[in-house]
Amino acid sequence: MIVANWKLHGDRASVRAWVHAVEQAQWNLPERVTAVFCPPAPYLAVAEAARAPNTRLVLGAQACSDQWEGACTGEISARQIRDLGACYVLIGHSERRRRGETDAMRAGQLAAASRAGLTPIFCIGETADERKTGKTDAVLTAQMQVLHEYHAELVVAYEPVWAIGSGLTPAAEEIAAAHRTIRGLRQKSGRDSAFSVLYGGSVNPTNIHEILALAEVDGALIGSASLAPESFVAMLSAAAACGR
Ligand code: PGA
Repeated sequence: MIVANWKLHGDRASVRAWVHAVEQAQWNLPERVTAVFCPPAPYLAVAEAARAPNTRLVLGAQACSDQWEGACTGEISARQIRDLGACYVLIGHSERRRRGETDAMRAGQLAAASRAGLTPIFCIGETADERKTGKTDAVLTAQMQVLHEYHAELVVAYEPVWAIGSGLTPAAEEIAAAHRTIRGLRQKSGRDSAFSVLYGGSVNPTNIHEILALAEVDGALIGSASLAPESFVAMLSAAAACGR
């Protein structure tokens, strides 16, 4: 799975142009590769309308409300996101954790996503300090606790906070080790629904080959290198070529 997270970038014209460019380039994508586009929520409908009828591009949102509906000015609900054609929603991205989202809110968002039929891409990861002081596994364990009550299909994205937007990535063995921890935690929780683990943080068309070659890694969540369609297509090609 290769996921484009556009964050707070783009407009109507660039969303349309990106969808057209990616669709024209990716017809030979094998069935096992899923390409997900997460534009800013106001552009989900634009992206959906721009997609070809036989598209391989699946849509996702970058966040959803923890409330189903009601008096919540400015929120966007999981049901509305699903209604706009999305199948996935990012939950717990570090840029939202930093803005004050809590475990209780994430629990509500997970419940809303599941009720709406969206698959969550649940983001976790340690800060530079936490890694330096040997707390990575403890942080991942704590961040995954809210998933105990979550039974449906789930994607977890391991995104070290210090790797996001910095041009730095962990060593391959560090990525593999964190993914093993995450898989072990899910196994221990006794849930047997579909589960995959992505890596995110400064992934680009050059380093993606080494990352996807790791047996523990099911795909990538990509920010800045997903903005240019040719760069995203290069990363789809890397996934297509990786043979798993
Ligand atoms: P980046 O962002 O690829 O720009 O590091 C990744 C993310 O925040 O999901």
